[in-house]
Amino acid sequence: RVGAVLAATTVTLSLGATPATATGRGHGHGGTGAPGAPGVGDGYFPAAGNGGYDVLHYGLDIRYEPTSRAFTGVATLSARATDRLSRFNLDLRGFEVRSVTVDGRPARFDRDGQELRISPPRGLAKGERFTVVVRYDGTTGRPTDIEGALYGWVSTPDGSFVANEPDGASTWYPVNDHPTDKASYDFRLTVPAGKTAVANGELVEQRTKNGWTTFVWRARDPMASYLSTASVGDYELRRSTGPRGLPIIDAIDRDLGPDAADGLARTKEMIAYFTELFGRYPFTSYGAIVDDDEDAGYALETQTRPIYSGPPSEGTVAHELAHQWYGNSVSPARWQEIWLNEGFASYAEWLWEEHSGGRTAQARFDTNYARPETASFWNPPPGDPGATNLFAGSVYTKGAMTLHALRTKIGDKAFFALLRTWYAANRDDTVTTADFVELAEKVSKRQLDAFFQTWLYTPGKPASW
Ligand code: ARG
Ligand code: ZN
Repeated sequence: RVGAVLAATTVTLSLGATPATATGRGHGHGGTGAPGAPGVGDGYFPAAGNGGYDVLHYGLDIRYEPTSRAFTGVATLSARATDRLSRFNLDLRGFEVRSVTVDGRPARFDRDGQELRISPPRGLAKGERFTVVVRYDGTTGRPTDIEGALYGWVSTPDGSFVANEPDGASTWYPVNDHPTDKASYDFRLTVPAGKTAVANGELVEQRTKNGWTTFVWRARDPMASYLSTASVGDYELRRSTGPRGLPIIDAIDRDLGPDAADGLARTKEMIAYFTELFGRYPFTSYGAIVDDDEDAGYALETQTRPIYSGPPSEGTVAHELAHQWYGNSVSPARWQEIWLNEGFASYAEWLWEEHSGGRTAQARFDTNYARPETASFWNPPPGDPGATNLFAGSVYTKGAMTLHALRTKIGDKAFFALLRTWYAANRDDTVTTADFVELAEKVSKRQLDAFFQTWLYTPGKPASW
């Protein structure tokens, strides 16, 4: 396993180096700054995101026809340069790019793999705000991630299933595709009349004209690109109100049976319970997208509106809800930190089960701990699973066990104070495991390096901690 992880790292590093060789071209001289980096420097996904700017807002205007899979997009990005730039990159896979403007003026551009390189007519000053408009179109397909799993804009028989984790947002819009650059979003989605398009945030407009319906969704809270969605299907929108007036908008596929939403029945109680445990619900609305895909086992915590490929279980609903705090508001600063998402959401699932009268978290820990050294979830170490093992069982189960073991070590009072403070101190931000260890030591007044070394970074079943 370790060998495979090292090999994968070497390959991705050399891929990451490729775009850098292009910096030797004729740009970047004469006081106009230098080209922005083709990646943010994520060790697992070196080409993900880009350097030199910060996107503040995405306006995505998309027209999609599910039968032909014809897709036309106009992406308007408001950004701020964080360096003096002669050129900068966006991430975009596939499509024909028809034009790019920067502040209304045509900009030269070229493509290299997932990199869309844009040279504005004049360099950008450090701190300068600018607007990029990219017009692009094509026919969508069924893209796959580094592990060969479907992700991004996945065309389905009745529309699209859009779930980008970790780096699939670039399969449908030009993006600074890394959680370290959160932004607000407006989606203007035009689909054949009768279809429903669902995105993050709230539906602010719906209008049908000449056989096409435009759905405008607004997501005001900062959002990482992997959590954006714009899913199209035969959905019925169901509106209700959660705790403290929180708008809840569910989209349920009309082709599913009457029990399709059974797993969602206790969502409002879950929001109230997690609010009490973790702190206030992070965003402006909530809800679920429940699709009718044949392969029904996939779920993603898309911000404010988790997406399920089929009717979810109550446990999965609790898991995706908990991600709104841990993962979506408090996000990984690099993909190596994925256990901060999955370990936390899995542990929240255990806490919900205990709260609702099922197995206790202790019982679930004990059952897992009784499993032999050969059980799959002991490896790879959740603190550094490798780019092709982001969603390994260990990241979820050993990650949740890490939190339970920590709880028994530092006591309930310190543990739950830690969960609350972790959220309160890092809302709308990104974090590392080192940040978590530091806070855990501060809150508990204990030295915890050896504990986390054992649980997160050492292969196998911990013997003592
Ligand atoms: N973050 C998602 C969850 O909490 C899992 C995504 C799985 N992705 C994958 N490529 N296997 O359930
Ligand atoms: Zn998860």
